[in-house]
Amino acid sequence: MSNTLQITSQGALGALVKNIDLAQVTDDQLQQLRQAFAEHEVLFFENQGMAPERHLAFAQRWGDININRFFTHVEGYPAIAQVVKEPEQQGNIGGYWHTDHSYDQSPALGSMLLARQVPPTGGDTLFASCTCANASLSKGMQETLLSLRAVHSSRHVFGEQAPYMGQMEGRLGNSDAANQDAVHPVVIRHPLSGRPSLYVNPGFTLRFEGWTDEESAPLLEFLYQHIGRAEHTIRFQWREGALAFWDNRATWHWAVNDYHGSRREMHRVTIEGEELSAA
Ligand code: SIN
Repeated sequence: MSNTLQITSQGALGALVKNIDLAQVTDDQLQQLRQAFAEHEVLFFENQGMAPERHLAFAQRWGDININRFFTHVEGYPAIAQVVKEPEQQGNIGGYWHTDHSYDQSPALGSMLLARQVPPTGGDTLFASCTCANASLSKGMQETLLSLRAVHSSRHVFGEQAPYMGQMEGRLGNSDAANQDAVHPVVIRHPLSGRPSLYVNPGFTLRFEGWTDEESAPLLEFLYQHIGRAEHTIRFQWREGALAFWDNRATWHWAVNDYHGSRREMHRVTIEGEELSAA
């Protein structure tokens, strides 16, 4: 296998990477992947049905692993979160626009999601580019947002009273650990690409710092609608063995819940990130 990767852009964000075996990535290939990841924000790979040890080893080349405090893990692998929906279950994990870990002071860099079992149809994942969304705002709005910070929390999603937890039937737990709030700039300077990226999301953002919930809601809603516009998004159709590696600081994702009666199982390894700076 030659060392040159075949990297094909998928649109507003995302690239499909071919000619690579993630179980044995060379240093040169890793360098190409680093550039592609900064440029495209989510990378897709096909036919990577590697052993869990290899999945972890590839992730560790990007940073320390975040051991997820809410997700059930794959048996024998505490560092691999299990993202599963059984045929008899209704709710899925991540079935709404969000970016992982924005409630942490140092939000995770990104996650590598490996498809172990996919439904015959459906179960796609949507991705949105928060850098494209920032670039398509008016200059006036871009400048206004630069002065704002936003408060993010895990309590209303993973806390004991959260309605979402009630639908998760043992797949999520440890509600006591849902005690983080964090404040981040609304427009961050992306740590890898340097591009300004909108850093608010419907999953975890509560309000703008110093504003009430009511004052914040209209502008947040405008930004959510704007980021989720079709021209900022792509849709990834999974096959068994496919892997998606997304950047939480540049993207949102949404696991589409349209496969009731079928099983879907994904293994997720998340990589630690850093504190975010204003653009
Ligand atoms: C997630 O939000 O991490 C789950 C994404 C998916 O299952 O497609």
